[in-house]
Amino acid sequence: MERFPNAREAAYALRPDEPVYCFRPSVLTADARRFKDAFPGKTAYAVKTNGEEMVLATLAKAGIECFDVASPAECAAVKAVAPKAELIYTHPVKAQSHIRLALEDYRIRTLTLDHEDEVAKILRIVRGLDLSPEDITLFVRIATRGHAAYELSKKFGAGPAHAVELAQRVHNIGFRVGIAFHVGSQVEDTDTYERALASAAWVRARAGVPLAALDIGGGFPAPYGEDPRKAGAKAPDPAELVREVVGEAEEWGFSDVPLIAEPGRVIVARAFSLIVRVLLRKGRRIYINDGIWASLSDSWTGKIALPARLLPDPARKRRSGRPDRIAPFKVCGATCDSVDILSRPFYLPETVDTGDWIEIGHIGAYSLALRTRFNGFYPDTFVEVTTPFEEAGPAESLAAIETMAD
Ligand SMILES: Cc1ncc(COP(=O)(O)O)c(C=O)c1O
Repeated sequence: MERFPNAREAAYALRPDEPVYCFRPSVLTADARRFKDAFPGKTAYAVKTNGEEMVLATLAKAGIECFDVASPAECAAVKAVAPKAELIYTHPVKAQSHIRLALEDYRIRTLTLDHEDEVAKILRIVRGLDLSPEDITLFVRIATRGHAAYELSKKFGAGPAHAVELAQRVHNIGFRVGIAFHVGSQVEDTDTYERALASAAWVRARAGVPLAALDIGGGFPAPYGEDPRKAGAKAPDPAELVREVVGEAEEWGFSDVPLIAEPGRVIVARAFSLIVRVLLRKGRRIYINDGIWASLSDSWTGKIALPARLLPDPARKRRSGRPDRIAPFKVCGATCDSVDILSRPFYLPETVDTGDWIEIGHIGAYSLALRTRFNGFYPDTFVEVTTPFEEAGPAESLAAIETMAD
């Protein structure tokens, strides 16, 4: 992989017409270690967030020994770069053949569920493989509610009474019992975790069975751009939030059980930025060579402001507007689909024009993982960059703005 000190140098050297991912292994290593140092339990990186080989290999080298997987492909991806890593299978609904593969081939001994039929599926395979249930921990995922950029409890999680029944069932068969929750993604307030912890404590007390561990899921927020019009809405420091959640877990009586966390976004978001090219400027719209069907689907929620920085093409000699005036530009994606428009504008110098590049920061989470080949566009070019996105100067999206009509 070609190496550059920053994205600007990469853009000017390569003059790319295709999107280019700038991978920062040193940032990934630092963010993984920061989380691990702040969290006293087991850190299981959520592979779904970004399962690229370069990411998994860097994390393994950085000391991450456990990975949260949701499919056989994710198991294989981890084992290819870290054969000794521990895997935990946290998808609550699994195919029978996948459970067998997990237990037999990948020797996974920690699985999550939220329904009795899943217990039956697992038990059938455990018996068929002649495994001992007491060597296996089944986490009962409980339903939670709260504020997250992505709310994920609508689909998974057992209600409290149902979770009590499941915990007792799992215990009576002879499995070890865990309680798990996942509050969503990009959760910025500790109340959401606290409500989940209260629910977990209630389930534990009612179930009255020994608890092997508590899995507090992922959801820890990554830093993004701040909406210049919402002054003071600063995202919490991730390590601080982790410490607060752990403190709350202790207050809810979980200091006697091992903790697990499944962070994704907070570990990998800052490790990548993306260089895109402006294919056309049309008034206050820019058309770029990436979009919601490729690296930028995270923008769909409308709750994440991606930091963006203009890398003007030095070959363009004439420009209109003033480079020190920042204005919002509607960003249209590469495909012919008219929904392929980012939900938030980029704040860029008025002078932005056709042929310029834009570096979009902090896109390591749920970007590469969600790429599609729609319309034949599939960004897949990588360079290594040695300095963090922030160190190349402020992103215009974070700057004070003068709002202008669309
Ligand atoms: C079960 C589970 N754990 C962990 C994660 C990672 O979440 P995040 O990237 O917000 O930390 C997810 C993502 O949706 C998930 O579904």
